[in-house]
Amino acid sequence: MESSRNITWQSSNITRKEREQRYGQRSVVIWLTGLSGSGKSTLAFALEKELFARERACYVLDGDNIRHGLNRDLGFSEQDRKENLRRIGEVAKLFIDAGTIVIAAFISPHAQDRQMVRDLFDEGDFIEVYIDCSLSACEERDPKGLYKKARAGQIPNFTGVSAPYEAPQQPELTLDTEHQSVEQCVAKVMAKLDQRTL
Ligand code: PPS
Repeated sequence: MESSRNITWQSSNITRKEREQRYGQRSVVIWLTGLSGSGKSTLAFALEKELFARERACYVLDGDNIRHGLNRDLGFSEQDRKENLRRIGEVAKLFIDAGTIVIAAFISPHAQDRQMVRDLFDEGDFIEVYIDCSLSACEERDPKGLYKKARAGQIPNFTGVSAPYEAPQQPELTLDTEHQSVEQCVAKVMAKLDQRTL
């Protein structure tokens, strides 16, 4: 690529390991994927609260929030969603290098795009969590009134209505947010994290 010709990688004097040791944790990306209204953001912020209470260095990257700033130039075409996730993947990579636990909450509807993000990380640094909630339940909740608008033809390419969602085939974890409480789901993620050693 033309723009990358005259640039050279500059290395920090501080390693990821040193940063992780400072924080007493191993950095990781917890990638939440699921339909709009499935509970990604609720779970992401509940998980962040729990990790913070345990004195972990953690941060949530949330679809709606990132689209207010960094990715405000992107829409919901397949190409824009791919670029959205590519940028988020790169941001998450920086957080990993900074020794942080990243909770990423994005619909990320295409398996290929999720694989693209996964490929940015070493094995074990990326935990894909499928936020499993049926379309009918999401539509019934409709917390932002978006399904109603989408059904009325007011939002093009709306996931689950007029754009596809490909559920993960082999996620590290599946959370049934339709039948389990936020607390139960947070506990499952914490149990998964507790299996990891520094
Ligand atoms: S994606 O597919 O991963 O790039 O989407 P993401 O960055 O997570 O953004 C999803 C939020 O954008 C709002 N929104 C839409 N979602 C899906 N399809 C369409 N067309 C759309 N338009 C706006 C919506 O609030 C999503 O937030 P969540 O929290 O998922 O409901």
